[in-house]
Amino acid sequence: MPSASLISVASWLPEQRLTNADLEKLVDTSDEWIRSRTGIAERRIAAPGDATSDLAARAGAIAIERAGVQPADIDLLIVATSTPDMVLPSTACLAQAKMGLTCPAFDLNAACTGFIYAIEMATAVIEAGRARTVMVIGADVLSSIVDYSDRSTCILFGDGAGAVILQASDEPGVLSVHLGADGSGADLLYVPAGGSAAPATCERISAGETYMRMNGNEVFKFAVRAIPQVTNEALADSGLTLADVDWLVPHQANQRITDTVAQRLGMPSERVVCRIEDTGNTSSASIPIALDSLYREGHLRPGHILALVGFGAGLTYGAAIIRWTRED
Ligand code: UT7
Repeated sequence: MPSASLISVASWLPEQRLTNADLEKLVDTSDEWIRSRTGIAERRIAAPGDATSDLAARAGAIAIERAGVQPADIDLLIVATSTPDMVLPSTACLAQAKMGLTCPAFDLNAACTGFIYAIEMATAVIEAGRARTVMVIGADVLSSIVDYSDRSTCILFGDGAGAVILQASDEPGVLSVHLGADGSGADLLYVPAGGSAAPATCERISAGETYMRMNGNEVFKFAVRAIPQVTNEALADSGLTLADVDWLVPHQANQRITDTVAQRLGMPSERVVCRIEDTGNTSSASIPIALDSLYREGHLRPGHILALVGFGAGLTYGAAIIRWTRED
């Protein structure tokens, strides 16, 4: 049975920055509060007219170039997003056309855990011999569903995209993935209107129901409970322990969540990837963006063990244990 290896990683962030000082002008908050409670200093905001598929296609194009493959070599494209360009067609189909791909393409929505879910799907398809090369993109334009009059959410989220390419290999790359979902927590983080349960109407839009609602404290508690647990489960599946992990790459949601998770796992802070300060929470893009920064800064070596871990609306959670196989 072939293994799935990551042969490239890339990311793309919009130019425009939304700083804490900018948010001080919109809501009753302060740079000091945001930094101390979240670790965030600024986020990126997509340019007017740029949709999730545009960000996705830009990250994907860099991933193709770095992988040294041709667009025709990609057998399958999965885009993890919860802010699709439109209800239909899928953002994956729109990004597929923008990248000049010809392969099957579909969206996957597992909110901020979407990238981990998509890694599991891509790995399963490769291991089954149904595809050789699969592109996974995590992309979100969260600014399209953020209520910039709600200080409990608008301080957290930003826009961005990250991409990886997985390819069949004799060398083990993706060692194990563990996923979970608990739909009883669906009301902790959701967008009330705009779907089939409550189609967007003038009244619902005026009432702000097409914006995200979140119970931040409960999501925080869920994250610091679920992430250490699923990380340990995925490690046990791969026959490794935390001592084998070179880099813990958590979903970048709140620096305090990352610190608590690292402490509960007993992971030294120098092996925990923290990139939230300049990007905020970019949902399904946050893990590949953090991974790409690790790659570009030259920290990844062949044989390094990565633990990618995520959590989000759903509630969903998941962890992927990966051996980095790229030489540069
Ligand atoms: O991808 C998953 C997405 N979601 C998450 O990861 C969210 C996880 N949760 C969090 O990150 C945190 O719960 C928040 C950052 C959302 C909130 O931080 P917190 O430390 O849990 O604050 P809190 O909700 O307990 O609120 C403490 C105080 C409250 O005031 P009172 O009642 O003590 O007077 C809030 O009204 O802070 C107030 N507050 C703010 N003050 C200044 C809430 N937001 C703000 C703000 N600026 N932006």
